[in-house]
Amino acid sequence: MRMCADRRADAQAYRKRATPIGDPGIDLEGVKLVVLVQPIWASMICTPIRSWLLAHRGQLAGTKLALLAANLGSSPVRLRANYDNEFGEVFRPLAAFAVVDQRLRERECLKSTDDFALALVQAGATLPGLHPQAAKEGG
Ligand SMILES: Cc1cc2nc3c(=O)[nH]c(=O)nc-3n(C[C@H](O)[C@H](O)[C@H](O)COP(=O)(O)O)c2cc1C
Repeated sequence: MRMCADRRADAQAYRKRATPIGDPGIDLEGVKLVVLVQPIWASMICTPIRSWLLAHRGQLAGTKLALLAANLGSSPVRLRANYDNEFGEVFRPLAAFAVVDQRLRERECLKSTDDFALALVQAGATLPGLHPQAAKEGG
């Protein structure tokens, strides 16, 4: 059963389909930065995230977006290229981008998320424990 669902999700992602979602109904008024967190499907934005982005594209036009993805080894460059190809002219360039390969050791994963957090701070986010000055200095 799980395999069928995965195959369907993979095919939908590959074909750049959106999928019906229960929209979380977040009030985006005044939001300056949105962090998207997703598993990589078919080297693409996964379909529920696509649905949400498309449903809110008007509200998100001037908003900074950041993308943190998890995967099992496919190329981060491919995901980035696919994202830019699909959304590069719709949204502002990604303020931060990282892919965490779940097969790697915790330490290597943390390096990716640390770099991502620094990029978020540089994009104006306030993260507990991470001072903007530290971000400027690169750590
Ligand atoms: C439909 C589907 C497509 C996937 N496509 C990819 C892929 O293209 N590249 C990759 O490295 N991992 C791929 N994966 C593995 C997921 O990225 C991995 O399962 C995910 O990071 C872990 O999240 P989960 O625990 O929610 O499955 C895919 C998984 C699914 C279910």
